[in-house]
Amino acid sequence: MTLGSFPRTRLRRNRQAPFVREMVRETRMTPGQFIQPLFVAEGKQKGPIAAMPGQTRLDLDELIKECEALLALGVGCVALFPVTPPERKTPEGEEALNPDSLMVRAIKAIKQSVPNIGVLADVALDPYTSHGHDGVLDAHGYVDNDRSLEILRRQALMYARAGVDIVAPSDMMDGRIGQMRDVFERDGQKNTIIMSYAAKYASAYYGPFRDALGSSANLGKGGKETYQMDPANTDEALREVAFDLDEGADMVMVKPGMPYLDIIRRVKDEFGVPTAAYQVSGEYSMLQGAIDHGWFDEKKVVLESLMCFRRAGADMILTYFGKRAAQWLA
Ligand code: PBG
Repeated sequence: MTLGSFPRTRLRRNRQAPFVREMVRETRMTPGQFIQPLFVAEGKQKGPIAAMPGQTRLDLDELIKECEALLALGVGCVALFPVTPPERKTPEGEEALNPDSLMVRAIKAIKQSVPNIGVLADVALDPYTSHGHDGVLDAHGYVDNDRSLEILRRQALMYARAGVDIVAPSDMMDGRIGQMRDVFERDGQKNTIIMSYAAKYASAYYGPFRDALGSSANLGKGGKETYQMDPANTDEALREVAFDLDEGADMVMVKPGMPYLDIIRRVKDEFGVPTAAYQVSGEYSMLQGAIDHGWFDEKKVVLESLMCFRRAGADMILTYFGKRAAQWLA
């Protein structure tokens, strides 16, 4: 680092006009780095999401139109979150393995109508279980790791066979990446990308998402602390990432995003692998709420929040602002 002294060094010289600020900018951001999460629903479950103003549960026709619009804006990938009707939720989450589930139909519909957009499918049981956990429970109500693995592995294979580009296990069970990678290899699904939710924290910032899926009421007071990470830990995040890479993950994710930029930086520095950040529902609702009150300049605050992920080391960003940000960057 070169030190300077005033007045020979005036740091403001490089900030004085747009052309020079553009030249010295260290970090760039393009729509192709955004992954847009989309909620998919049918019948009376479609429509606006109260806890996430501006976000909507789309039916399959709307989903296709949205994918076309995103692709035209340069957003290369969508992450799908299906809403399961309450009467289809069971303790064992059988709907997760239904070959005709809304997720499977959504994957096939997009790959048929908009083949050039990447499709990412979240793999976990919480949209399908009546208790709202990401796995199945043992006799004591504890989330049973190994029995959950068997279901998750089959769920992931079903999505791979349906043509999904990326599976993203968000369940935080131990050993899931290896099991999925092995079953993909045996089944000839050798090009299916695995993006692991590697450092996923037990976070209050997921609140609005659980409202969107209708899984919060089911979860009751019990949280997900026995499988998602403690927000106090950072070394543990590196162990999670190391394990998932060793087991065959192609990319890793840190989640939530904005309060966890230090984790993104450590992961990127330590491993140098494709790293995604998830700006989660609560971060969206926080920003959108203040925007709606007129307290923030919408475009400036959103683009700043996204640029900070890039600066912290994220290659890709899952963000509900993906479409808007792509419009602004055009
Ligand atoms: C499900 C899942 C969650 C999110 C993505 N996948 C919620 C959770 O773990 O409870 C959160 C996304 C968001 O808040 O935007 N396993």
